[in-house]
Amino acid sequence: MIVEEQPPGKPSRIRLATPVSSSRHILVAVAWPYAAGSRHLGHLAGAYLPADIFARYHRIAGNRVLMVSGSDVHGTPITVLADQEGVEPQVIVDRYHAEFLTDWEKLGIAWDLYTSTGTPNHYAVTQDVFSRLLEKSYITEGVSTQLFDPQVRRFLPDRYVEGTCPNCGYQDARGDQCDDCGRTLDAVELIEPRSKMSDATPVTRETKHFFLRLDAFQDRLSEWLSTRRGWRRHVKNWALGMVDEGLPRRAITRDLVWGVPLPPPADRLGEGKRIYVWFDAVIGYLSAAKEWSQIHGTPDEWKRWWEDPEAESYYFIGKDNIPFHAVIWPAMLMGYGGLNLPTDVPANQYVTFRQEKASSSRGIGRSVGWYADRIQADALRYALGSALPEQNDTDFSESELIRRVNDELVATWGNLVHRVVSMAHGWYGGRMPAKHAPTTEDQALLAEIDDGLQHAGQMLERVELRAALRQAMEGAQAVNVYLNAQAPWLERRNNPDRAETVLHTALSAINGLKVSFSPYLPFSSEEIHTMLGQPGVLADRGWKRPPLTEATLAAPRPLFIKLDKDLLE
Ligand code: MF3
Ligand code: ZN
Repeated sequence: MIVEEQPPGKPSRIRLATPVSSSRHILVAVAWPYAAGSRHLGHLAGAYLPADIFARYHRIAGNRVLMVSGSDVHGTPITVLADQEGVEPQVIVDRYHAEFLTDWEKLGIAWDLYTSTGTPNHYAVTQDVFSRLLEKSYITEGVSTQLFDPQVRRFLPDRYVEGTCPNCGYQDARGDQCDDCGRTLDAVELIEPRSKMSDATPVTRETKHFFLRLDAFQDRLSEWLSTRRGWRRHVKNWALGMVDEGLPRRAITRDLVWGVPLPPPADRLGEGKRIYVWFDAVIGYLSAAKEWSQIHGTPDEWKRWWEDPEAESYYFIGKDNIPFHAVIWPAMLMGYGGLNLPTDVPANQYVTFRQEKASSSRGIGRSVGWYADRIQADALRYALGSALPEQNDTDFSESELIRRVNDELVATWGNLVHRVVSMAHGWYGGRMPAKHAPTTEDQALLAEIDDGLQHAGQMLERVELRAALRQAMEGAQAVNVYLNAQAPWLERRNNPDRAETVLHTALSAINGLKVSFSPYLPFSSEEIHTMLGQPGVLADRGWKRPPLTEATLAAPRPLFIKLDKDLLE
């Protein structure tokens, strides 16, 4: 926690050993990617980037953020790929987990913990949740009818089956979900199912499994969902629709050997059964919080985010994950008891590339790493940040990316900083220009920047991230308008004090705008902070325009590189 600015000469900041009570606890929970395919821009815009922007905002605002996720290492996406390549699933997991870690590093996705569902801690936490729900009879044993491949003589889990969606007629629906209408499915519901293991047509067979009694939560879920305020309409409607249709019990074990084993006494069903991947994956949010606490030597610290009813939790996911996060996970939490339900599930819609849904499994859209090797992280973050699919599916193309970077980021914000720092540095040799007699125009500009910052903060609180970025850009435009009107280059000869005051004002405005931009553009904002010679670390200084401290200005350096039109061909 930061205490107010001290006079120069004294230490400017004091860190308190324990957080003051006014700091909120914010859990930023981000969808766990299957370690079975590269991340593409759609994933980045759908979950990781918005989560990171939101987390960075809250950290600057002085709140205690715990941003967690990890690689989802179970499930058939991984075993299907392992079978295709003739390797063990762990080989696939290790490959993609390493790739994801590199992606986060390149893009500045700043996790408090990015782990995986393959850890002993995650197994233990998953088994604990399973056992508690079993004890409370929210999990019951039953017979399930599942698809069986008579040729390879195995039960077919979800993604080993494709067929026609009973809901919308889409022909390539998967065994767990239809990609077209978004409905979660049971593989046996598919019309004309096809096995991916052989050419055989699967048959139905009975097998013993455990079921989550979602029906037991029907009324509580309906009541809870309908009283949520501030949720995105599409999320709330989808979740309520699912609940109102009636919630069946759902099989949460599978005939598989890759996954979290059943804890005793549930292991009585015999070898060859594992917990269903989705049941264990959502528990990752809790297990990761516990793992983070262990790593930090404060094993009970996770409770601050999970047990204190004042704590807040935000789940950043794509819309295809709404059923699991807005209905099934809350039901599991209700059943477990004593843990916080989601504060908000700000799910995003899809990003399409030239009208096709980006999807690693279908090979559309290039990987995040490919772009990160060619474009500055902040430029990529800017282009995606201004096109986040918050309310609607959003189409994106490479020409749009280039236009956003060149015509907006470089032309407006980058040029403004460069122009002002160049003038100040060139005219006063690195000395911070002084403020002489500020006019109403100067005061009006800074008031506009301060209002914008406050307004952006309110939008960030509501997870309206696109709008908050636009607000910052409008601030940059306002400074440009101000500079053109005040024309310090004309004042310089006859009215040097005025020229200096204008530059001081413009630098103060930039000093505030860099805070507005910093959740989106962390690398360049930190660079601006250094260029202006300001003390401490930007991210520690509060969601407000900091005073422009007397300092030596660094020689200006262009912040952003203009993109060549052919760069992405
Ligand atoms: N692995 C799933 C996917 O990629 C998402 C899981 S999110 C979780 O679709 F939280 F449930 F893990
Ligand atoms: Zn469908």
